[in-house]
Formats: sequence, structure tokens, C-alpha cells
Amino acid sequence: MEKLDDIKNKNDIIKLVNSFYAEVVKDELIGLFFKDINWENHLPTMYVFWENVLFYTGNYIGNPMLKHKLIHESMPFNTEQFNRWVLLFTQSVDKLYSGEKAELIKERANNISIVMQLKILQ
Ligand code: HEM
Repeated sequence: MEKLDDIKNKNDIIKLVNSFYAEVVKDELIGLFFKDINWENHLPTMYVFWENVLFYTGNYIGNPMLKHKLIHESMPFNTEQFNRWVLLFTQSVDKLYSGEKAELIKERANNISIVMQLKILQ
């Protein structure tokens, strides 16, 4: 089998994020959260967010913890949903990329998910 490339730049992140959300919207556990999303805003936000996580661009302005806390107040999250989110993210990375950055982005996603659950779920 051919070896996959690592995540090198913003274009690679765009591919990853698009591929991840294509699965998310179909998912029976978390798809519902994205029913009324403004994709023209959300997708570019996520490109910039992950670009900052991997390449330290400093361009992301936002407060994901607060955002998810607010979502949780009207539509509560549970652990199973967070686990599914991380699983779909991990699978999307593994389908497209392999290498140091690919490992790093999966680790960061998992860590943020753990912190988010600690802050949001009680
Ligand atoms: C059960 C798991 C999760 C669900 C259902 C979920 C759902 C959502 C939804 C509905 C939005 C709002 C989009 C909008 O209003 O435009 C959002 C935003 C966002 N999510 Fe999540 N999320 C989950 C977990 C995570 C995790 C683990 C991360 C990070 C690793 C993450 C990162 C973000 C970011 C960065 C934003 C954008 C915040 C901003 O507007 O600046 N999410 N999420």
C-alpha cells in the first residue's frame, strides 16, 4: 500500500476538515448538532482553528470552550457523543495522512475533547 503524506499546509487541513464534516453530518449520534449550522462561517473558522493548532499561526480568534458550553445549555452533549466526535476525527486523519503532524493533530483533538468534557459535562 502506498504511504500517505503528512499534513503540510492549510490546503491539507481544508481537505481534512471537509472530509471530517462529510462524516459528521451523516452520523446518528452527532449529526443533529450541525443541522442548522452556517457552513460558510463554520468551515473557514475550523480551517483557521486547526491551522493554528498545528502550525501556530496565531490567526484563530475564538473561545471554543464557551461556545460548546452555550450549545450544551440548549442541546446537551454526552460522553458517547464526544467519543464519536474523536473517532470520526481520527478516522478522517488516518484516511488521508500519516506522519508527525497527523499524529499531533489527533492527539490535540483528543486532549481538547477531554478538557471540554471536564469543563462542560457534570
Ligand atoms: C460532541 C462533540 C462535539 C460536537 C457535537 C460539537 C459541535 C459543535 C457545534 C454545533 C459548533 C458550532 C458551530 C457554529 O455555530 O457555527 C462547534 C464549534 C466548534 N467546535 Fe465543536 N463540537 C464537538 C466537539 C469539539 C471538539 C472536541 C473540538 C476540538 C478538538 C471542537 C472544536 C470546535 C471549534 C474550534 C468550533 C468553532 C468555535 C468558534 O466559533 O470559534 N468541537 N462545535
